[in-house]
Amino acid sequence: MCGIVGYVGAKFVDSVLMVGLERLEYRGYDSAGVATISNGELGFRKKAGKLKILDDNLKQSPLGGNIGIAHTRWATHGVPTEQNAHPHFDCKRVIAVAHNGIIENYTKLKEVLVNKGHVFISETDSEVIPHLIEENFNGDLKEAVLKSIAELDGSFALVILSEHQPDTIIAVRKKSPLVIGVGKDENLVASDESPILTHTNKMIYLEDGELALIKKDKVEVFDFTGKKIEKTVQEVDTKNEEFDKGKFDHFMQKEIFEQPEVIERILAERIGEDGLVHFKERKIKREFLAKVGKIIIQACGTSWHAALIGKFILEKYARIPTEVEISSEFRYRNPILVGDTLVMAISQSGETADTLAGIREAKAKFTKVWSFINVENSTIAKESDCAINMLAGPEIGVASTKAYTAQLMNLFLFTLYVARLKYSMSNEQVSAFALELKAIPNKIREILKQSEKIKIFAKEYAASPLMIFLGRGLNYPSALEGALKLKEISYMHAIGYPAGEFKHGPIALVDEKVGVVCVMPEGELFEKMISNVHEVKARKGKIIAIATEGDRRAAEVADSILYIPSCSEVLTPLLTVIPMQLFAYYIAIEKGCDVDRPRNLAKSVTVE
Ligand code: AGP
Repeated sequence: MCGIVGYVGAKFVDSVLMVGLERLEYRGYDSAGVATISNGELGFRKKAGKLKILDDNLKQSPLGGNIGIAHTRWATHGVPTEQNAHPHFDCKRVIAVAHNGIIENYTKLKEVLVNKGHVFISETDSEVIPHLIEENFNGDLKEAVLKSIAELDGSFALVILSEHQPDTIIAVRKKSPLVIGVGKDENLVASDESPILTHTNKMIYLEDGELALIKKDKVEVFDFTGKKIEKTVQEVDTKNEEFDKGKFDHFMQKEIFEQPEVIERILAERIGEDGLVHFKERKIKREFLAKVGKIIIQACGTSWHAALIGKFILEKYARIPTEVEISSEFRYRNPILVGDTLVMAISQSGETADTLAGIREAKAKFTKVWSFINVENSTIAKESDCAINMLAGPEIGVASTKAYTAQLMNLFLFTLYVARLKYSMSNEQVSAFALELKAIPNKIREILKQSEKIKIFAKEYAASPLMIFLGRGLNYPSALEGALKLKEISYMHAIGYPAGEFKHGPIALVDEKVGVVCVMPEGELFEKMISNVHEVKARKGKIIAIATEGDRRAAEVADSILYIPSCSEVLTPLLTVIPMQLFAYYIAIEKGCDVDRPRNLAKSVTVE
């Protein structure tokens, strides 16, 4: 939910930290702050609002030094103001702390500290941490930190900088991610690899319950009892340029246009020479998968939409009863999980708190967990019995696009894989299906060529008070996804609805100002969609149809039409979402919204 970065080495730390925060801004961007030590003195700068405000301020009056920590915030406790921005300090301002997570017992701790004379200036939970360290400090900073974190309930990734030990950053991990970058006479620590890759691709992944002392030429790791731990240094192959926009105006735009290559990469990795599907990194035995009697997929947001489509295809082709749950509901309803049930988690970030809690609920009931994640060393990956990388590549835009189509493609491939194990599809049927999947990337390329046309539509609808997205069957989740894209980056009121349900109330919303996107590719439900279109037109709603190339019927009834290339109905969700992604993108641009950093949101929702 927030982004943390720290650096110690020989470089000018202000710029290292600001570039690092830019890489992490997608995790939260309502305020930001930096603390460095220069000539033995702890200095800091904090600003509410976008990162650029802090950057401009630092350029005018730099802090300097070669060691520092920085933080970009998504507010949980306390509104986004300078006082509430991190880092936070002790009374003497010699201890600086940046925190990602939630301290659940901060009220009680704050009361005790205030009674001991500590003065607080923010409304945040995080500010109790530096005051606790100050209270516990008796000359040994590491010991003071260990004593203090023992008193904290909740989740915390911390970086701590202090005049008491001016050459060292202390990093602490409990239920919020932290990774250390090991450079040459320089070391870094951050919430994920993105700020580190500019300097090194050698990583040490901290686990929950670990504390690190990070100097420019040494990294030592301990458990929370103070016992030293040996850690391995891993080389990651993620390329630095994957974190750049390249020729695109926004990360979201880049990631929409990357989808053909992403799907080609997934297919190349998963479909073998034999034309069949393989998951080489699978860690759940084929024998278990062959006997799975039920699958429960739990996820949030866009990943939940992908899960809804997963249900259709798993039941249709693998004949496995499949339930889909929103993680924040699943985790609290004491689900009934029996021996042959497989729980599946889908999460781009691999850090979504509710989805992670859903996994822990499943594990507590001795149920196997298979996850699709997009971040290899994420917490969800570590806690699953089997974690499969969806291979979308780093997704920086807060609105998920390439990860969504990657999730769908992985769900199709997983379905083919288990369908073979259960003999519900023959090898020939699987190979034929896999061949159809291989045609999808070029079909997406065809749709992307319409981007200028979609841009024109977007201008027409940018002022609509409401956009409604309707779909049936496999494309009901597509309608949900189209609505979510639009609302989260353009702040326009948008709802996705099953088309057949629309007449049971929501149709009252329709008038001549309302735009209605009808997802109506060729298929067995097309006729039903035509009826829905007529129902809307009878109430003066404006229709945008997403239809199959060459379909005259949709063109006759719609005010605007966007075509997708022909393909089997079951594969249409891979294509119908593309025009809706572009539609949302161009409306947000038209409305002057910050597409990659939409208000109130963050890329990784690591709090409940
Ligand atoms: C999607 O555009 C949103 N950013 C959001 O709904 C997201 O899908 C959701 O928070 C789940 O994230 P995850 O896939 O990282 O778990």
